[in-house]
Amino acid sequence: MTHFLDIHKTDPAALRAMIDQGIAMKQARQDRAKGAPDDDQPLAGRMVALIFEKPSTRTRVSFDVGVRQMGGQTMVLSGSDMQLGHGETIADTARVLSRYVDLIMIRTFEEETLLEMAEYASVPVINGLTDRTHPCQIMADVMTYEEHRGPIKGKKVVWSGDGNNVCASFLHAAGQFGFDFTFTGPPPLDPEAEWLDFARSKGVQAVIERDPLKAVAGADLIVTDTWVSMHDPESAKERRHNQLRGYQVNEALMAHANPDALFMHCLPAHRNDEVTSAVMDGPQSVIFDEAENRLHAQKAVMRHCLGV
Ligand code: CP
Ligand code: NVA
Repeated sequence: MTHFLDIHKTDPAALRAMIDQGIAMKQARQDRAKGAPDDDQPLAGRMVALIFEKPSTRTRVSFDVGVRQMGGQTMVLSGSDMQLGHGETIADTARVLSRYVDLIMIRTFEEETLLEMAEYASVPVINGLTDRTHPCQIMADVMTYEEHRGPIKGKKVVWSGDGNNVCASFLHAAGQFGFDFTFTGPPPLDPEAEWLDFARSKGVQAVIERDPLKAVAGADLIVTDTWVSMHDPESAKERRHNQLRGYQVNEALMAHANPDALFMHCLPAHRNDEVTSAVMDGPQSVIFDEAENRLHAQKAVMRHCLGV
């Protein structure tokens, strides 16, 4: 059973193959728009369940479109509308869904929900975000970096802000794809030590630098994310804003990075909180390519899981 649960749990050669396949499939779509045939339908006859226990725009639409482009069909399910949200166990849900569908993508809260789904499902399970990680996002991010600047191996990525689920998957990718990673943010919001250790165990630099200007020196890519994630309590908002104000990505910060540094954000963004509109809409920003590449990268992830 080939699940896609996290980047650090996936073989680096398989990760590289998925990025390359995502790029190739993107090219095929672009050629198709110019009249070339694109009859690649590896998911023909397959049904994919997309389960959401949290809101989503990109993940929902990109998975749905991706399955359809590959000839498959989808079923988008809201956790609260399922018996799952009314006391049925995850294990029973996994076993039932496996009798109907060929692949399950789930966006949920606790990582344990994802892991239990994977344990009891007899079809592959894909992590569409948990409180702890967001691997599909970072597959798209690596693809986007390489599309613009070539191999990410050996580059310096700087994360400014909350050491959250997206940051965690970036640290996993640092280890698996071989790039250095600097986190800059306030101590209470550091990424988990386990993830820093994972990256270091693979021989890359994974460091914390409290001074954002020092952190971005020599950076090839600067990344941030919302200061308050979907799993964070609303009551954390004011405190988070006070803690993170100094870590906003703005033009002054970008000016301290390498001149050809890119800017990424998984979106949705809170304009002029974690990043200014000037940076989001500026020449170094690749945020909409990043959003588009969710589609192409996830098509490769699904093919990897289904072996097609
Ligand atoms: N980046 C991302 O996962 O966006 P959605 O929450 O819209 O799916
Ligand atoms: N860190 C954010 C990512 C959203 C795609 C969240 O979990 O809400």
